[in-house]
Amino acid sequence: MTFDSLPEVILARDLLRRWWGLELGLAAADGSGYERVSHATCATLRAQPGSACAGSMREIASMVAKDRGVVVQRCHAGLAIVAAGVRGGTGLVGIVYASGGRAGDLGDVESAIAKGLGAAEAPALAAVAPALGESDLARIKDLVGVAAAAVERAQPATIPPTTFTHPFSEIVGDAPAVRDVVKLLGKVVKSEATVLVHGESGTGKELIARAIHYHGPRAKKPFVVQNCSAFNDNLLESALFGHVRGAFTGAVKDQPGLFQVADGGTFFLDEIGDMSAALQVKLLRVLQEGTLTPVGGTKPIKVDVRIIAASHKDLAAMVEKKQFREDLFYRVNVLKITVPPLRERVADIPRLAQHFVNKHWRNPGKAPGLSAGALARLVAYPWPGNIRELENEIERMLVLAGDAQELTASMVSSRVSGGSGTTPRALRDVVDTAEADAIVAALGRHVGDREAAAADLGISRSYLDARVNALGL
Ligand SMILES: Nc1ncnc2c1ncn2[C@@H]1O[C@H](COP(=O)(O)OP(=O)(O)OP(=O)(O)O)[C@@H](O)[C@H]1O
Ligand SMILES: [Mg+2]
Repeated sequence: MTFDSLPEVILARDLLRRWWGLELGLAAADGSGYERVSHATCATLRAQPGSACAGSMREIASMVAKDRGVVVQRCHAGLAIVAAGVRGGTGLVGIVYASGGRAGDLGDVESAIAKGLGAAEAPALAAVAPALGESDLARIKDLVGVAAAAVERAQPATIPPTTFTHPFSEIVGDAPAVRDVVKLLGKVVKSEATVLVHGESGTGKELIARAIHYHGPRAKKPFVVQNCSAFNDNLLESALFGHVRGAFTGAVKDQPGLFQVADGGTFFLDEIGDMSAALQVKLLRVLQEGTLTPVGGTKPIKVDVRIIAASHKDLAAMVEKKQFREDLFYRVNVLKITVPPLRERVADIPRLAQHFVNKHWRNPGKAPGLSAGALARLVAYPWPGNIRELENEIERMLVLAGDAQELTASMVSSRVSGGSGTTPRALRDVVDTAEADAIVAALGRHVGDREAAAADLGISRSYLDARVNALGL
């Protein structure tokens, strides 16, 4: 990584050193590789056998992984660690931090060190660690946040190639849970057994049902879909099983049901958990005997249909509560496929996102790519609506992109970008505010004596004058 050569990092580091004597460092996403420390005493502590510094960094790594913003945490010695995550296409890839300041009272630090590492180091560390007030912490957070955002932007936007090849090319994903599903599909398509697909809304249940049908021996026959929660009971019954002439007002001729339409093929019954008890009985008959009777009819009709049922509800729990027939449950639950929610396959988000870019790209030529910043935001969002929601987001981004060659972070909706720390301020702005604050504070300490204030700040009198004018103080 080009950490040390990024202009924002150079500037943020310079200011952190000059104003507070703190060092800016970069650690791995798990908190390891934590090297740069702010002062010699910290280095001594860190070098001690059994040092708890590593533990503190691991803790902050897990905080950063959960929080989008800049976090402040006390280390084992009571010093402050200010840290922000760097996100890339595969999730959290690193942590930018400044550590070793004293935020709080001195006694705290001394007792923490004395407890953990021995009384000898305590006064020494307490003496060199800079004291940070609320406004100092706010500035340090800004600088660390700006540096982390710069490192994030410099990440290469790579989507790792998949090593997983299978015939279900329409199912994108490399996560272990997806591999398991696809391996199971390989067996499921060869059998004729009824399948139950269980998963949250928008996880790809219908995609899987279609894959089973189109990769199996019934592929040339119809694939019919009916959502069981879409209609009221009467309408659903008539849609599924058909009706005969005169069965009800408006039934002017015999109407075959969808089961007959699906004859020889596959019937995908979506949200089967919403089916009424009466219809559950009729469905059970189709499964047990392969026959059905249309509404108002008397003669049973034979059908040859493979059934794939889907539900986002836990059917087994519904059976317990007597909301779903037990006998039907066992008939349906012959082969069960559990589709993992997107939050359990975060590593697949970049791959899925690019898949949807390609899928919805309508213009001639090559579909655009996704920038590292855009991928970072997409990866960080929890996707309550799962893959469908991700797909909608990508479609929205494509509209904004027009014919741009890259989809960038600014095209990600604010809802998805969300969280704190995602509207990074320009570095110049952060620097100016920090500088102005320090100058005003120094002038205050020396009651307007510019000579003394300049000496205090470690700059020349003429530079101070120039900065006062430039910053409009
Ligand atoms: N693994 C995947 N690879 C590629 N596309 C996917 C994948 N999973 C889901 N999709 C796409 O996401 C969208 C939603 O999937 P699908 O409709 O199959 O989900 P669902 O579980 O039936 O959703 P709902 O509960 O809302 O009915 C579809 O456009 C589908 O093609
Ligand atoms: Mg569906």
